[in-house]
Amino acid sequence: MELKETVREKYGQAALRVTTGGSSCCGSAPSSLGCVDPITSNLYELSQTGLIPEEAVLASLGCGNPTALAELKPGETVLDLGSGGGIDVLLSARRVGPTGKAYGLDMTDEMLALARSNQHKAGVENVEFLKGEIEHIPLPENSVDVVISNCVINLSPDKDSVVREAFRVLKPGGRFAVSDVVTRGEVPADVRDNMLLWVGCIAGALQDYEYVAKLAKAGFKGIDIEPTRIYSVEDARSFLSGQGVDVDALAPQMQGKFMSAFIRATKPASCCFPDCCS
Ligand SMILES: C[S@@+](CC[C@H](N)C(=O)[O-])C[C@H]1O[C@@H](n2cnc3c(N)ncnc32)[C@H](O)[C@@H]1O
Repeated sequence: MELKETVREKYGQAALRVTTGGSSCCGSAPSSLGCVDPITSNLYELSQTGLIPEEAVLASLGCGNPTALAELKPGETVLDLGSGGGIDVLLSARRVGPTGKAYGLDMTDEMLALARSNQHKAGVENVEFLKGEIEHIPLPENSVDVVISNCVINLSPDKDSVVREAFRVLKPGGRFAVSDVVTRGEVPADVRDNMLLWVGCIAGALQDYEYVAKLAKAGFKGIDIEPTRIYSVEDARSFLSGQGVDVDALAPQMQGKFMSAFIRATKPASCCFPDCCS
């Protein structure tokens, strides 16, 4: 609960910074020009950002672009876990069109207010932002075609519940299409123990094989983890500066171990959860 409250407080402040004309940056030094850290910057093409309100782009705190990599078809229902300022929800809503629907789910009131304001500015109607936790998704089972998420699952203290809930709400044949930070190889304990790092999208990240195991345990098939950005020590130095971390001491142990990845999996088409998919 303490961790969740810290996360909620941090992202509430990030939302308010955007609302008052600043940047939502949380990873490294804030910039009035938007996030410049190596995780969050340059994720979206101009052809995408031009379609949505500037505040939604400034609030972007993801580490990938799930809407570019996920297959989204007209008429489908999409759910974004931890939707923040709504960038991926608004982009998904355009992709699924007026016969489809895009839900955003977030636990932070300030982020929900920002996302709803961005929806209003974008003038899209096939969008709904829900308040709630990704560990307890407030939607019925078998109701969603695609679950997306962008740099949120690593923040959850109960990732098993998150993937179990994603599986529950997906329709048979539904797709899990998530961008997240993952690690490869052992990460020093002092990194994991650092709350600020956790909240900044790093220390709570799963190892790639742990992600696969959790998805498989929930019943998913066709699991694949595709690295989209592998962070160098210099990337880490820039990310960690300003957080009071001794980067020089940590840097050699971090080389090649931190990456953003696109994680794909499918709920089997013939699944009858929870009876025959364990
Ligand atoms: C790193 S930001 C990412 C926001 C958005 N996906 C994006 O790409 O800009 C994390 C978001 O997830 C939300 N969040 C974190 N943990 C959550 C949880 N357990 N349940 C619901 N929302 C959560 C935060 O409030 C915040 O808006």
